[in-house]
Amino acid sequence: LIPFPSEIFLPGRRNSIGHDLNDPIALSAIHAGRGQFSDKNRWTAGVAGRERPIVNPAKPDDVVGTVREADAEAVKAAIGRAVGVFPAWAATPVAERSAALLRAANLYEAHEAEFLALCAREAGKTLADGVAELREAVDFLRYYAAEAAKAEVGTAARGVIACISPWNFPLAIFTGQVAAALVTGNAVIAKPAEQTPLIAARAVELLHQAGVPEDALQLLPGDGPSVGAPLTADPRIAGVCFTGSTDVARIIERQLAETAAPDAMLIAETGGLNAMVVDSTALPEQAVRDILASAFQSAGQRCSALRILYVQSDVEDKVLEMLTGAMKALVVGDPWLYPTDVGPVIDAEARDKISAYCKAMEAKGRLVAKLEAPGEGLFVAPHIFRVDGIAEMEREVFGPVLHVATFEPEELDLVVANINAKGYGLTFGLHTRIEARVQRVIDRIHAGNVYVNRNQIGAVVGSQPFGGEGLSGTGPKAGGPHYLRRFRSSAVATGDV
Ligand code: NAD
Ligand code: ALA
Repeated sequence: LIPFPSEIFLPGRRNSIGHDLNDPIALSAIHAGRGQFSDKNRWTAGVAGRERPIVNPAKPDDVVGTVREADAEAVKAAIGRAVGVFPAWAATPVAERSAALLRAANLYEAHEAEFLALCAREAGKTLADGVAELREAVDFLRYYAAEAAKAEVGTAARGVIACISPWNFPLAIFTGQVAAALVTGNAVIAKPAEQTPLIAARAVELLHQAGVPEDALQLLPGDGPSVGAPLTADPRIAGVCFTGSTDVARIIERQLAETAAPDAMLIAETGGLNAMVVDSTALPEQAVRDILASAFQSAGQRCSALRILYVQSDVEDKVLEMLTGAMKALVVGDPWLYPTDVGPVIDAEARDKISAYCKAMEAKGRLVAKLEAPGEGLFVAPHIFRVDGIAEMEREVFGPVLHVATFEPEELDLVVANINAKGYGLTFGLHTRIEARVQRVIDRIHAGNVYVNRNQIGAVVGSQPFGGEGLSGTGPKAGGPHYLRRFRSSAVATGDV
């Protein structure tokens, strides 16, 4: 049997990199960063074009900054500049490209407080999530800088890569994509999510300051139809590195098939219908802690988040009682305040869509438990609903919504088969103390990342690469040893490989 862990009984809250968030000195140092921007309280990002305010999702009165969005003309011009700079950037020795990333990593760390504030105000991230976000971004910069030389062997840079990123990891995923494409010698057009251009703009400023030429990394803020679509439709693009929804990945794939060169690259990391199984040998306290984190941390707005929990019938009552009790202790509110566990959702569209789903499920009599959301701001409180199984779930609900189903001990293989049948394959969680069961499930489940006896969100660059299969992604996993090779073409100019 796998032994019970002891650390779950220890008091205190530590984030993923070990900051002790109960430490008043560490906390006040982070908060001091507020002063750094309160006198220049607004950011502006972007190129000349339509202007749009960016508003804090937790506080409708807090205008964080302004974005000037690009259009199809700006896209064309930017690609032209990128094509122009590409040969020189590709010919820059890899050691120099890596050194620029390492300098950028130091600059990111030096701007920790500003990034945490932006993560909270623009993206609605709690302090703990903001720290993890910055850490992951810095890890991507250092890891890809260290790995780049290996990817050079027998390969050539591809050309101009479009990096298209989501709002839910506005610094980490944005940086990871851009860093990988740049360090492998490609020129980059970065299109951040329309909800989070300010964080991206700050990151790009620091990358330029670190030595990346301005034309080799250009930021084009704007929405999917106005900027993303003309970008991916331009035949001068050598590849697209995309993270976002499965639906948009399909659109981009079709677009590339029509207009891009046959060898154009597509990396697409997308959504999931992630499940966790808790059997009767699991430690309920540990399972409950990990279920809460997996389903509700980041307000459930993680591709990795737990969407459906399968609990073995004989422990179901106990687990659900503990889960709903523990859920009531969650604090939903302003992400910048330390006690907050669950911040806002990203925008009004997300709030309305998730709330409508919750109302419909409540009307069907499926509600198990819910919290109340604060009146002001774009909040959806955590909800738990009863379902018969994953078969009745149509798609990812990208918010703090957990579904619960029951299984009998002899049904475990069937549960795994039903999960696989949905076609996604991002994360999967298993709580059991039976080692043979762990192996049996791992051998059968289709999931990019499997988490045993822990929560099922998060990944660690360099040691725990992240990425899905099936409808959840094309691979290779971000933060892993195979990632950078995809940004290089296997044919070298000399033809000697
Ligand atoms: P989204 O697909 O709506 O948008 C992602 C990006 O694509 C944005 O920059 C958007 O502007 C752009 N886009 C939209 N339409 C486009 C088009 N026609 N052509 C080109 N670009 C276009 O996703 P989102 O709401 O920003 O992010 C949430 C989704 O991302 C969820 O489904 C989540 O599961 C997924 N996600 C996956 C991972 C992963 O690693 N697998 C990580 C984070 C988020
Ligand atoms: N690695 C990211 C997460 O875990 C995408 O949620």
